[in-house]
Amino acid sequence: MDAMSIGILTSGGDCPGLNAVIRGAVLKGIQIYGKEFVGFKDGWRGVVDGDIVPLERKDIQGIAKQGGTILGTSRTNPFEGDGGPDRIKENMDRLGIESLIAIGGEGTLAAAKRLTDAGIKIVGVPKTVDNDLSATDYTFGFDTAVQIATDAMDRLRTTGDSHGRCMVAEVMGRHVGWIALHSGMAAGAHAILIPEQKTSIDQIVEWVQSARDRGRAPLVVVAEGFKLDTMDDAHSERGLDAFGRPRLGGIGDVLAPEIEARTGIETRATTLGHIQRGGTPTAYDRVLATRYGMAAVDSVVHNRWGRMVSLSGTSITHVAFEDALGKLNTVPQSRYDEAAILFG
Ligand code: F6P
Repeated sequence: MDAMSIGILTSGGDCPGLNAVIRGAVLKGIQIYGKEFVGFKDGWRGVVDGDIVPLERKDIQGIAKQGGTILGTSRTNPFEGDGGPDRIKENMDRLGIESLIAIGGEGTLAAAKRLTDAGIKIVGVPKTVDNDLSATDYTFGFDTAVQIATDAMDRLRTTGDSHGRCMVAEVMGRHVGWIALHSGMAAGAHAILIPEQKTSIDQIVEWVQSARDRGRAPLVVVAEGFKLDTMDDAHSERGLDAFGRPRLGGIGDVLAPEIEARTGIETRATTLGHIQRGGTPTAYDRVLATRYGMAAVDSVVHNRWGRMVSLSGTSITHVAFEDALGKLNTVPQSRYDEAAILFG
């Protein structure tokens, strides 16, 4: 490769819209700025190993509607093992790569900040289905996850109605309950349990019983990071992930027998899990992701290193990594109170 190119990586948990970001960046970069691109395979792993694939116009054709990421992803920490800034700089020089567009969540952006501080030219694109980054109004992938969860709950409600059962739907949301809040409101849930609001089993049972008393088959939505008022930590039975964080999941299965025992209503739990992160992105996410990709290339061209593109209202802007990190976008009390009017 003669000209210096821009390297793109997708890192951390995947979500629908990653490919639309890649396409937006490459298309604008080629058409408007005459730039060249390569893709790193499997997130920071590819950056540390110097594992690249071509990203020409033909490689990104038609991918905006494809789920997942054509580049692959991993939860590799670029500072572990053989990693670190020296190794990464060496790889970039050898491969003729001048800068990086890192598409990822908080872990990815924290690593990107450390690498920026070490002199590597990086711009970030926020990604998380959980919508837990505070420096952007919305992250792409969230809208798709909410739609998938809502569709699933609509289905759970018809089978719940047929059997007169209480249905517990567990959705993603490690630290924040946005997916639960939005899908629960959309599906008309009788209780929405989120990490921001510890709740007693007595209160949950009251909501379930009240829905049943009105002749409804109760639907309870619970985010995986939810804690009962008796719990110190979120429910985890699956060990740790590569960043040493507990793998969550299973709180729905903890709650269902409790609800059944206390109400006498037959109760079933369904964990939606990775279905929420798979498949075709919604139109909203495709548009947002495409705009993020284009804005990331603008940032590269304008040397806005150490900054992440973000959505503010309907405009795309940019914020420093340090301002984007460390503060979670939690569900405000007012949004929870508003949803709670519909409980029971
Ligand atoms: O951060 C996004 C997320 O989907 C969380 O909601 C969830 O806890 C985690 O990723 C699951 O990670 P993995 O795909 O590594 O199991």
